[in-house]
Amino acid sequence: MPKNKKIRVCLLFGGKSGEHEVSLQSAKSIYEKLDKEKYDVLLVGIDKDGQWLLGDAANYLLNEENPKLIALNKVNAKPVTAIVKQESAELISIQSGKGLGSVDVFFPITHGTYGEDGALQGFLELLDTAYVGAGVLGSAVGMDKDVMKKLFKDAGLEVGKYVAGTRKTLTSDALQTAIKELGFPIFVKPANLGSSVGISKAKNEEDLKAAMDDAFQYDTKIVLEEFIPGREIELSVLGNDEPIASIPGEVLPNHEFYSYEAKYIDENGAGLEIPAKISEDKVKEVQKLAVRAFQSLDLLGMARADFFLKSDGAFVVNEVNTLPGFTKISMYPKLWELTGIPFSELLDKLIELAIEKRAEKDKLKRTFDI
Ligand SMILES: Nc1ncnc2c1ncn2[C@@H]1O[C@H](COP(=O)(O)OP(=O)(O)O)[C@@H](O)[C@H]1O
Ligand SMILES: [Mg+2]
Repeated sequence: MPKNKKIRVCLLFGGKSGEHEVSLQSAKSIYEKLDKEKYDVLLVGIDKDGQWLLGDAANYLLNEENPKLIALNKVNAKPVTAIVKQESAELISIQSGKGLGSVDVFFPITHGTYGEDGALQGFLELLDTAYVGAGVLGSAVGMDKDVMKKLFKDAGLEVGKYVAGTRKTLTSDALQTAIKELGFPIFVKPANLGSSVGISKAKNEEDLKAAMDDAFQYDTKIVLEEFIPGREIELSVLGNDEPIASIPGEVLPNHEFYSYEAKYIDENGAGLEIPAKISEDKVKEVQKLAVRAFQSLDLLGMARADFFLKSDGAFVVNEVNTLPGFTKISMYPKLWELTGIPFSELLDKLIELAIEKRAEKDKLKRTFDI
């Protein structure tokens, strides 16, 4: 890429997941903070059916100040798709087939199913383009609460006891064994989802059955987890092969747990304390664990790593989020800001990391002589 040319960034947001609205809010703050001296920005909103719509910066969102009513503005938005074109990817109009702009790097900020789980990353991979964040593998395992824990364990991280299964494998015998092993209360979760959707805390067998039915509405695989009493400590991680971790923050839910309601509905659902009030030694310890969690899943670019800090001082890893919330008040950018990387600079780094990784991949041999 010539040095003085602006980098063409395509921000992808919205999408088919339940986190569509959150994604629009993330996109809005990213768009505002992207340095327009450095970047030409193409705004592509993905609607709830999965259609890509190229919008106009002046009016690509409706009700943008209202987190509940915020929506894509489809009027005048052009349906597009992306294709491979020589050196870079190209957005083309579905209607006319005409090129509407080449793209140097995609910035997907599509939280949840299809956008965060490797599906969209697979499409971007086929375009041979640079894109921000985890690749196909990292996105997929970073979404699956069962496989993720297996890889964490393999990396020597402490993980809570859990049992994963489907309707067929979680027979009544298997369930009795699980109850004995985990004890009540049991957290029940769809294996692949986010935003606490479909998650319940079951206090007895009756609760457990209802919780499982609920979780099975969202996924064919669920996880049952032992309850881990502890503080919720979160860190932001940034980098490719040499990731760094931010200062930790603490989530203080005012509900029984950090539920969907506490996250998005109730304005006073949770408090964030940044930095978390923990000793310097503990900060160093959890920063190392966050980097290890990131590396154990082969992640790239960014992730938020979430832990429980138990009263005995041990950190238990809960999960990572490969496309964390990016609104101005979201934990991921806030933690970096207080660590010394302002929002705009953070976006520069993420774009740089994406371009770097693409360049590395471009150097690989794709054919070989027999
Ligand atoms: N095993 C557990 N023990 C105690 N609390 C838990 C446990 N698992 C989840 N929680 C609570 O539920 C919230 C959501 O669970 P999490 O696994 O982070 O799902 P999501 O991916 O939807 O954020 C956590 O932030 C925490 O408050
Ligand atoms: Mg979580």
